[in-house]
Amino acid sequence: MKMTVAAPEVVRTIADLRSKIAEYRLRAGPAAKVGFVPTMGYLHEGHASLIRRSAAENGLTVLSVFVNPLQFGPNEDFERYPRDEKRDYAVAAEAGANLIFMPQVEEMYPRPMQTSISVRGVTERLCGASRPGHFDGVAVVVTKLLNIVAPDRAYFGLKDAQQVAVISRMAEDLNMPVEIVPCPIVRDADGLALSSRNVYLSAEERSQALVLSQALKKVPEWIEDGATAPELTGRIARLIRTKPLADIDYVEVLSYPALEPLAETLPLKQARERILVALAVRFGKTRLIDNVLIG
Ligand code: PAJ
Repeated sequence: MKMTVAAPEVVRTIADLRSKIAEYRLRAGPAAKVGFVPTMGYLHEGHASLIRRSAAENGLTVLSVFVNPLQFGPNEDFERYPRDEKRDYAVAAEAGANLIFMPQVEEMYPRPMQTSISVRGVTERLCGASRPGHFDGVAVVVTKLLNIVAPDRAYFGLKDAQQVAVISRMAEDLNMPVEIVPCPIVRDADGLALSSRNVYLSAEERSQALVLSQALKKVPEWIEDGATAPELTGRIARLIRTKPLADIDYVEVLSYPALEPLAETLPLKQARERILVALAVRFGKTRLIDNVLIG
């Protein structure tokens, strides 16, 4: 059963959100599905694609917009992370969200947390290595949000492929009663992966950042040519370094979703697992991530 009201409702408190979702479930009956899309706002077409997918697959779609302080490092951009509630509301409404949960920090964290959630293994490399504590913060807030919303399905973008691996693993390890749905990366017409952080880029940085998707686009061809993991990362890094403003954090090739290294001498086209080619590169103050999944 679809909600009859078209305009989404903004909800600020956990109690209010829970009662609205309970009301929906009561009204719609046991077959009704609730879909959930957690975000940090400043919504773009990537977020909208998750909302649309949820709206297509569920009777009720709950969107959360919350910039989670716990997942930012001390020198990261928590304070200056872009925020625009009005715009977020418009994007969410257009994409088909029904409830928009926009809590204050005090609502989510009324007192310091004494509980932590650490997913080992899949967090050892990539952003887990270069942003210590980041995935602990993500795991806590996603667990809290899943406990608050209790959705049947939760939608995550493969733009953050490691995040998908971490959340899926956590949900399985902890028997969370939710289906984690991975969704494809949405890009601008010129190839740049959409990100709320793209607004930080100067025109010159943005133009040089196109090298990331250009390099990743060549990956299938390079794998077909017989590249091993070190050869592939070398080719990608060399291409990225032709851009003077690019400062590489990592370029890595790992199995997916285990995120383990592959044998260095193995031509990747002979690999049995799916392969994730992921990178993080700074342009000025802005750290961009992008990736491609093969297989
Ligand atoms: P945020 O960066 O706002 O992203 C919210 C969701 O949108 C994530 O699942 C992300 O992978 C997805 N997304 C972002 N850009 C995308 C793109 N270009 N194409 C497809 N999907 C895209 O990820 C977070 O917030 C937070 O870590 C969160 C999960 C909300 C926990 O705080």
